[in-house]
Amino acid sequence: MKNKVTVSAPGKLMLFGEHAVIYGMPCIVTAVDQRIYAKVEKTDTNLIVVNAPSLGVKSYSVELSDLGRVDYPKEVRFVLKSVEIFFRKFKVKSGLIISTKSDFSSTFGFGSSSAVTVCTIKALSGIFDIQVDDKSLFDIAYKTVLQVQGVGSGFDLAAAIWGGTIYFVGGGKIIISLKIEKLPLVVGYTGIKADTASLVRKVGYFYKSNKKEIKLIFDAMKLIVESAKKDLVVGNYTRVGDLANINQGLLDSLGVNTKKLSDLILAARVAGATGAKLSGAGGGDCMIAFSPKSKKAIEKAIEAAGGKILSVKTSAPGVRIEQ
Ligand code: MEV
Repeated sequence: MKNKVTVSAPGKLMLFGEHAVIYGMPCIVTAVDQRIYAKVEKTDTNLIVVNAPSLGVKSYSVELSDLGRVDYPKEVRFVLKSVEIFFRKFKVKSGLIISTKSDFSSTFGFGSSSAVTVCTIKALSGIFDIQVDDKSLFDIAYKTVLQVQGVGSGFDLAAAIWGGTIYFVGGGKIIISLKIEKLPLVVGYTGIKADTASLVRKVGYFYKSNKKEIKLIFDAMKLIVESAKKDLVVGNYTRVGDLANINQGLLDSLGVNTKKLSDLILAARVAGATGAKLSGAGGGDCMIAFSPKSKKAIEKAIEAAGGKILSVKTSAPGVRIEQ
């Protein structure tokens, strides 16, 4: 048993299949080299203390006896729900100090909540010396995320745990690591924070009132993911670009595109990207462009259209113990 464990996990970018993955379809996600860190220390107190300076949280504390009985502030909800579920599942308990740190802003849509959930559970398994394999880690983290935000496929948890580039089916039914080292991606940030849960609900209402038509869109998204799975591995970026453009058109039909996303996506295409699409829930956050060539020109065009370039490496390693 250790008194102090630090764990890190990567953020993610959705490549293909967002929203459809909520309806049992596959998606493809890549882990990025921007990480979240959680240090968990055991204490002799009866308090769980959380420090999350990037979210403006300094020494927020909750009594052990209040875990699961009080509403946690949203900045610490994923961390405290992870602790609550871990303690209940493994019948352990201790005072803790948990400190989180991030390489990236929580507004980018890189999946900071999921990465911090994975880090917290992994660190607790080290603190209490409990073997938790990757699939069990996924299951506990997925339960945590569903309890906190009510919706989600869990694809971001899979990226945080396994890293690399992954073919994923909702709820973790299928998780396949794809043999891809680096993707020629340009990432543009809109400057607007999207609210994933409300966008997922919005698509849900749209689906309810247009079931037959939206079902066809999800089926087409599935086809795109299946094709992209092959074309990404062989590096056929002309075809990957076509698939990105088709996927973007379908996401637009679901009502999750915005003018700002469209501006950045069109700018990237005009500047030479083989294809470009939004990445994630839509409504803001990031867009991605595939660009084996003319990367600089695409970056400039995205900036001229009002976007911010986020420089990331893809297929980054998954969760790991740092200390
Ligand atoms: C959000 O990044 C991607 C969605 O498919 C939600 C999810 O899969 O959890 C919209």
